[in-house]
Amino acid sequence: MQQKQIGVIVGSLREGSYTRMMARALVELVPASMRLSEIGIGDLAHYNQDRETATPPPGYTEFRSKVAGSDAILFVTPEYNRSIPGVLKNALDVGSRPWGHSAWAGKPAAVISMTPGALGAMAAHHHLRQVLYALNVAALPSQEVFIPNAATLFDEKGQLTNAATREFMTTVMRSFETWIEKLAPRPGA
Ligand code: FNR
Repeated sequence: MQQKQIGVIVGSLREGSYTRMMARALVELVPASMRLSEIGIGDLAHYNQDRETATPPPGYTEFRSKVAGSDAILFVTPEYNRSIPGVLKNALDVGSRPWGHSAWAGKPAAVISMTPGALGAMAAHHHLRQVLYALNVAALPSQEVFIPNAATLFDEKGQLTNAATREFMTTVMRSFETWIEKLAPRPGA
């Protein structure tokens, strides 16, 4: 079976980010049919429609081609002010243009949101899903993954040591695999 290439978008640029720790931990928890690689968003210029010329910024083009070349997208994000971080929204906007050539269109996706707090992450999760509807990205519906108390789940090296979370995320990644299979284009269809 050919491995599915999963582009991972992390909504935090912070060194020591819990969401990036989670994204890295998932590399070992996914089924063998999936290969995760992060698509960086930190160096993307702010989206500016005036730069949408025959020669857009190389960063836009590179990002779009990485998204377009992925079989599915995994979003792992913190919540900022009860929404998604601006850098993540910028990446979503950059990938969505030029009009009619969105790199996102038709991609299966999964959404994980996290917070070091006891409450939180749910607003970011649903704001992200709202944007994904506009982008024609079908996010795994069956698991709404909001992870609280993020700081307690990792050891000092950033390894995901919480056994219950490892088990839960393994189940989520299996569901994601099934979701990608379901949405995969059928030859001749
Ligand atoms: C936050 N944080 C936060 N947390 C939350 O649960 N709900 C929220 O609305 C916010 N708002 C917010 C705004 C801004 C500007 C910052 C910088 C932070 C806290 C946030 O969850 C915390 O900093 C996480 O550690 C960020 O994720 P990473 O960087 O660890 O992945």
